[in-house]
Amino acid sequence: MHEEIRSLAKRKNALILAHYYQTLDVQSVADEVGDSFALAKYARETDADIVILCGVRFMAESAKLLSPLKTVYLPAPNAGCPMADMVTPDDVLMLRAEHPDAAVVCYVNSGADVKAVSDVCCTSSSAVKIVNAMREREIIFVPDRNLGAYVAKQCPEKRVILFDGFCPTHHRISEQDVIDAIEQHPDAYVLIHPECREEVLRHAHFIGSTKGIIDAAKRSDREELLIGTEIGVQEILMRDLPDKRVYSIGSTFTCPNMKRTRPEDVLACLIGEREAITLPNDIARDARLTLERMIELGG
Ligand code: 13P
Ligand code: SF4
Repeated sequence: MHEEIRSLAKRKNALILAHYYQTLDVQSVADEVGDSFALAKYARETDADIVILCGVRFMAESAKLLSPLKTVYLPAPNAGCPMADMVTPDDVLMLRAEHPDAAVVCYVNSGADVKAVSDVCCTSSSAVKIVNAMREREIIFVPDRNLGAYVAKQCPEKRVILFDGFCPTHHRISEQDVIDAIEQHPDAYVLIHPECREEVLRHAHFIGSTKGIIDAAKRSDREELLIGTEIGVQEILMRDLPDKRVYSIGSTFTCPNMKRTRPEDVLACLIGEREAITLPNDIARDARLTLERMIELGG
């Protein structure tokens, strides 16, 4: 099936993109694997006719927004992001009414309708840079309260107003989990994603996006690595760094939505058995501007 996917992709001029949280099997059929920021950039810059985004819905929507003339597919149509569903455009409009001088910075893990009423998007790798680059001192940050709190700490001159969203996969990890893991592996280099709670991040040697964690782990000369993000990142590091011992914090660090995609689903996109992503024109026009601004300020 892998060969069939690769040859069909070539024939149809399709670019297959996969997030680091996808299974290694799905990653192995992709042209490029990346974090949210890199995937958005690949989708924007490609001259392929078709983009197949192996990830969750907001990622495929972002690809469509940035490449409106291309046909974009989400291979597992029911792969959503529960955090993205926690905030609505009305929530943002209410916060805007309460804080009329604030700019709205919206994590890319959000619906296109929420992006459309925001000023700029960010990813975990670009959030600090983008918040710092904003003219406004007051920043409404939606939906992730953990990433927002991390950003607020890194940008002390800004007043960051947080929303109450969170990623169920990262938020589930407790401070006790990280303390226990460090007790078991006291010499490990500890790398954690900023979607984790503040009291978990406090124990990290390195905080960054999925790509940031992978790159920092590969640069490290420590023999043991303790990873605080979805299991996909640990699997990549175990494959790429066979001489190191790579452990995960907690035993349930899996995003069920990210694991919905199978190679069969990628093939289904290529043989026309999936519906392409479409977005209402007015929402797409406004949401696109926030993503373009993200690439401009975060690039
Ligand atoms: P990254 O931008 O770090 O890849 O994060 C995406 C995501 O959904 C993390 O849960
Ligand atoms: Fe959404 Fe969390 Fe899954 Fe990332 S890991 S896609 S934020 S639910």
